[in-house]
Amino acid sequence: MTGATSGIGAATAALLAERGAHVLVAGRDRARGESVVAAIRDRGGRADFVAADLREAESVRRLAREAATLGGGRVDILVNNAGSYPFGPTEQTQDRDLDAVYALNVKAPFHLVAALAPAMAERGGGAIVNLSTIAAETGMAGMALYGSSKAAVELLTKAWAAEYGPRGVRVNAVRPGPVRTEGTADMGEDLDALAAQAPAGRPGTPQEIAEAIAYLAGDAASFVHGAVLSVDGGRTAV
Ligand SMILES: NC(=O)c1ccc[n+]([C@@H]2O[C@H](COP(=O)([O-])OP(=O)(O)OC[C@H]3O[C@@H](n4cnc5c(N)ncnc54)[C@H](OP(=O)(O)O)[C@@H]3O)[C@@H](O)[C@H]2O)c1
Repeated sequence: MTGATSGIGAATAALLAERGAHVLVAGRDRARGESVVAAIRDRGGRADFVAADLREAESVRRLAREAATLGGGRVDILVNNAGSYPFGPTEQTQDRDLDAVYALNVKAPFHLVAALAPAMAERGGGAIVNLSTIAAETGMAGMALYGSSKAAVELLTKAWAAEYGPRGVRVNAVRPGPVRTEGTADMGEDLDALAAQAPAGRPGTPQEIAEAIAYLAGDAASFVHGAVLSVDGGRTAV
């Protein structure tokens, strides 16, 4: 589970552990990671923290190796949740921002799937869940870089469903609307304004997104391949 030290990732790690998974909590921040792990263990769950900066390909590959080791040679579920979402005018976007966002949001999931999906396919089962955003579906001013990176993730979700699905690996995505997390804390009332455009009229909670991720990762979704599940208060539907 990448990006599990915060927000949606931390909530999902807790939920998956509650449902019996041994969760690898990945992120860069050891203090936050250890506290997520401690909370899971306090409730009787199984979790371990692995530090990795996913903008570096070698670090991504090392994470995949450590996940397999911790899982006793197997990884059944991969959740590509780590992401960054800098907003701003296209003309003010620097090359280094382009590289950093694509490295984390697109290349890291790509390398992790390349490292872990073949073994899942060989065993004939596994589930991969990618995190998208409503900005991947709807053109939004100031979100060209972020939205385009997640649009790539949505297409990759379908391409990987075609590639690995016939060998038993289900690949799906969750597309959240605005959710209050550590990462969106600075948005303040802008997040409420964005959320107000949707039928639900409010931001979602990390737990509401975690429920959708856990559904797609679990056997209840056994016939669901290549889906992008909007959990956005209805924003992209109206
Ligand atoms: N919150 C929303 O409104 C919203 C809406 C739609 C989609 N999403 C998507 O949902 C996902 C989670 O969002 P969130 O709001 O829960 O995020 P968040 O609170 O900002 O947390 C981001 C997570 O990603 C990890 N991360 C960031 N940079 C990393 C790097 N270079 N290497 C490894 N890990 C890194 C962070 O861990 P460390 O700091 O420990 O590295 C943290 O665990 C993202 O993909 C986001 O695009 C969020």
